[in-house]
Amino acid sequence: MAQGKVLEQRTDDEIDKACVQEEAPDAIHFDVFTLFPSMFTGPLSESILARAQKKDILTITLHNIRDYATDRHHTCDGYPYGGGGGMVMRPEPVARAVETVLNRPQGWQLPEASAHFDLPAWEPDKPPVAGHPAPVVLLTPQGRRFNQDVAAELSKHSRLALVCGRYEGVDERIRTQLITDELSIGDFVLSGGEFAALAIIDAVTRLLPGVLGHETGAYNDSFSDGLSGILEGPQFTRPPEFRGESVPEVLTSGHHANVQRWRRQQSLLRTLERRPDLLALACETGRLTPEDLLFLSRQGWRPPGSSDDPLPNG
Ligand code: ADE
Repeated sequence: MAQGKVLEQRTDDEIDKACVQEEAPDAIHFDVFTLFPSMFTGPLSESILARAQKKDILTITLHNIRDYATDRHHTCDGYPYGGGGGMVMRPEPVARAVETVLNRPQGWQLPEASAHFDLPAWEPDKPPVAGHPAPVVLLTPQGRRFNQDVAAELSKHSRLALVCGRYEGVDERIRTQLITDELSIGDFVLSGGEFAALAIIDAVTRLLPGVLGHETGAYNDSFSDGLSGILEGPQFTRPPEFRGESVPEVLTSGHHANVQRWRRQQSLLRTLERRPDLLALACETGRLTPEDLLFLSRQGWRPPGSSDDPLPNG
């Protein structure tokens, strides 16, 4: 992408090219491994994700890990060796589920009647096959931090497997033998990976061409390339006045260039106020234009490490 150029400075061709994720596949398939598949049904059947599925851009197969537990009680957890509170996800049902599914064509699902008792053959002691057809991503607070860049990276795959951890986590041998990536959606602990998986499915899917209705897609979202990685500014709609507060005049002026300049400045101001770390990063990666830098310097902002940065002790 042309670095350092904001949207209004690009030709239509450049925008068209940049709006579609480079190397983005036409469609993406998620295999989700979870102990709670019904947690997904509501969110996946509404709005943008439902529309993406209708258009066959998004397909998802939910796999209940418990269906792959073969003991009498279909046990998926165990006490931690060495003691301590909480339970740990046992490795066999997770490995059996993931390996059975990823060794079969995309979209395959265990028939309901086969759960527990009539599973496809699986050799538990066979070493794991290297090179699954899809990255196998574990959702865990210990993973690398998911963000817009990671969403863009994942959107280049046509198939992804998401493994939702539960309890105190999964047996470490699942990590070492099966998992190819670990992602966290933030520094907080959820009761399991399901909400994290949903967040990732949503963020990745909206990047695919044809998912969002409008012409620039997710290109102008906060954190995205179109905004050089900074935050979106304020948005207004009807009515023109609400409880004595009016829509900024520039937005109703019909002057396109002024509207674009105002929006860019609002983005910069909002980012300066709320996420100065993003401004520093955008600057370091050459994504701020000279006009941006001039505007920011008038707000008293200096690129980190610049000579007139105040000294740490004042
Ligand atoms: N599972 C529990 N907490 C999580 C988090 N913050 N991100 C991803 N998966 C999780």
